[in-house]
Amino acid sequence: MSYNVAIDGPAGAGKSTIAKAVAKKLNLIYVDTGAMYRAMALYMLRHGVNLQDTEKIIENCKETDITIRYEDGVQVVLLNGENVNAFLRTEEVGKAASAVSAIPQVRKKLVELQHKLAAESDCIMDGRDIGTCVLPNAQTKIYLTASSEVRAKRRYDELAAKGEECDLEQIRADIEERDYRDMHREVSPLKQAEDAILVDTSEMTVDEVIEKIISLCKK
Ligand code: DC
Repeated sequence: MSYNVAIDGPAGAGKSTIAKAVAKKLNLIYVDTGAMYRAMALYMLRHGVNLQDTEKIIENCKETDITIRYEDGVQVVLLNGENVNAFLRTEEVGKAASAVSAIPQVRKKLVELQHKLAAESDCIMDGRDIGTCVLPNAQTKIYLTASSEVRAKRRYDELAAKGEECDLEQIRADIEERDYRDMHREVSPLKQAEDAILVDTSEMTVDEVIEKIISLCKK
């Protein structure tokens, strides 16, 4: 049986940064499930699908083939054979991913892929419903969070470092809107699994969080 670590939490809590670092230290594969929903959203945006039109999304979902490949330990998302990694990390795609991920048919398709990856290898998988729905038997479950102020500030600093103009209050409003949608949808909403350990990173450095998660994995 493979060893699985589940990390869930709201947008901007630092899940991917932490999961990537822990994966490297513990020799696990890092599975970024948000990237799969983002790839699905990218397909809809490219095909001009109205994100309010559930029927159209379901119809278009059938046309997608989303697979994962690893190159030098980095997850590459293939959308109908194309490496789309470079297009996934925009605000527009993140927002669209939050919308398409509320549709059960979309989730079913991507959860199948997630199950397959977790069964094949020792992995650390991050998302919104990993500890609650996707891998209920994961040996280690973490719920990673931070206040919306802190998460917005981190995102702001990231964008500012890239020289992008942005507004802190707007970023915070977007984050809170996305959290609300992810936590209140009918299927697999974001919530802490009963047996998950809560780690609030508001007052922690990245290195402190990595150390903490590694110690929880070793328990
Ligand atoms: O983690 P992220 O920002 O890349 O995720 C993008 C969106 O995808 C997020 O707003 C909600 C959705 N998502 C989900 O519903 N379930 C997951 N396991 C991962 C992401």
